Amino acid sequence: MNVVDTLKALRAQITQWKQTGLKVGLVPTMGNLHQGHLSLVQQAQSLCDRVVVSVFVNPMQFGPNEDFERYPRTFQADSAKLKDLKVDLLYLPSVDEMYPNGLEQTRVVVPDALTTLLEGASRPGHFDGVSTVVCKLFNMVQPDVALFGQKDYQQWLVILRMVQELALPVEVVASPIVRDRDGLALSSRNQYLSSAQRGIASKLNVILQEVAMAIASGNRYFKMLEETASQNLLQAGFDDVDYICICDPDTLQPATSEQVKCVVLAAARLGETRLLDNTLVRVNSPVKEPLSRC
Ligand code: PAJ
Repeated sequence: MNVVDTLKALRAQITQWKQTGLKVGLVPTMGNLHQGHLSLVQQAQSLCDRVVVSVFVNPMQFGPNEDFERYPRTFQADSAKLKDLKVDLLYLPSVDEMYPNGLEQTRVVVPDALTTLLEGASRPGHFDGVSTVVCKLFNMVQPDVALFGQKDYQQWLVILRMVQELALPVEVVASPIVRDRDGLALSSRNQYLSSAQRGIASKLNVILQEVAMAIASGNRYFKMLEETASQNLLQAGFDDVDYICICDPDTLQPATSEQVKCVVLAAARLGETRLLDNTLVRVNSPVKEPLSRC
């Protein structure tokens, strides 16, 4: 595996691949890799001739009181996992390499309608940081295909919108959520949980699935379903519920009773840790989320 930390070295390798007509896939990450990330890598390998994984903890997408400083940085373990999977190139830019003029620089801002609700309401400015760094990574790596997890559903929609509206020449592919045996979506932040909190955490998916079942079987009282689910999360032991919302899967606007397909999205807190999950549901018949469990 080629490990590079400068744009110059990255470009040299990419140019060589492109000259021989190879199809390049990119999996952008913030490191601390788990099976969720690795499933994206494997999917990229099935679609492309060469796969680049980037590891960059992006300061621009963290709020002032968020966990940028304590976000786990586990280079040795990450690099070993990627080597085992025979990844072709690991790109590890420093903050200076990514933001040579500091964070006050040209930004990519996807319209508010998609970025100021749900995660954007809880984390103002978060998606400007995400779209800016992902756009830069696309320009740096020039991938033919880029993979993102359905775990961060809103992020995936924001990136799709950016690619469409800026006519970026990259195909964006979504990959299914990888879960632990008890249904908890894998996340680098799960390791912040105490064992008592870890027990409660699995209820997030259980409660999401209850909402999905109710919608699938024809319940259209979406507001009531959201309120009950929120109460159930608090009763299960969550300290706070940022949101649990039944939305249109393309616009993230509140679902209407005519909706054929919905996405149920939730963010809830256990102490300082924020957990995210979502599930797609087809009204009257649950969409089979291609569940992969590890
Ligand atoms: P990070 O949280 O490291 O996630 C990297 C990618 O892995 C994202 O596309 C995310 O949706 C996916 N992922 C995380 N957990 C997953 C799971 N359990 N199942 C499937 N996919 C999962 O998301 C980011 O980094 C950053 O915002 C980034 C896009 C890299 C920009 O900085």
